Amino acid sequence: MEIRIDQLDNIRAAAQEFIKNMGQARVFAFYGKMGAGKTTFVKAICEELGVCDVITSPTFAIINEYEGDETIYHFDFYRIKKLEEVYDMGYEDYFYSGALCFIEWPELIEEILPDDAVRVNITEQQDGSRLVTF
Ligand SMILES: Nc1ncnc2c1ncn2[C@@H]1O[C@H](COP(=O)(O)OP(=O)(O)OP(=O)(O)O)[C@@H](O)[C@H]1O
Ligand SMILES: [Mg+2]
Repeated sequence: MEIRIDQLDNIRAAAQEFIKNMGQARVFAFYGKMGAGKTTFVKAICEELGVCDVITSPTFAIINEYEGDETIYHFDFYRIKKLEEVYDMGYEDYFYSGALCFIEWPELIEEILPDDAVRVNITEQQDGSRLVTF
């Protein structure tokens, strides 16, 4: 599956297209270079899923919880130094909760990604558009 985001104005349509193709999967790992557009796309998806409240936990800098029609967990593992930090935050309670999980920088926690996690790649093209593949 391939979704092109020509410009930021099109991101809502791209997010809707992504949602249509999520199937039964619950855990999505977003790979892509710094600045590729992972956070922007995840937030657009969450908005299209009807998120109304963002809860930033003060204790867990790496996780945001979104409340809307359903609970969504958005992780950014960029700053973790040791996998131990991820064990300590009780990652299993999130990954295997049945809630939607969107993960940035999954390469830092590759060992503990659920087997059925969907791998999504976001790349910036030369013309500035983004290509989302999964
Ligand atoms: N589809 C897009 N089209 C044009 N610009 C975009 C698009 N997506 C993101 N951007 C811009 O690129 C910049 C980086 O986006 P974003 O923070 O989402 O990247 P990221 O992949 O989450 O980076 P990081 O690895 O640092 O978390 C932002 O200024 C954002 O506005
Ligand atoms: Mg980001």
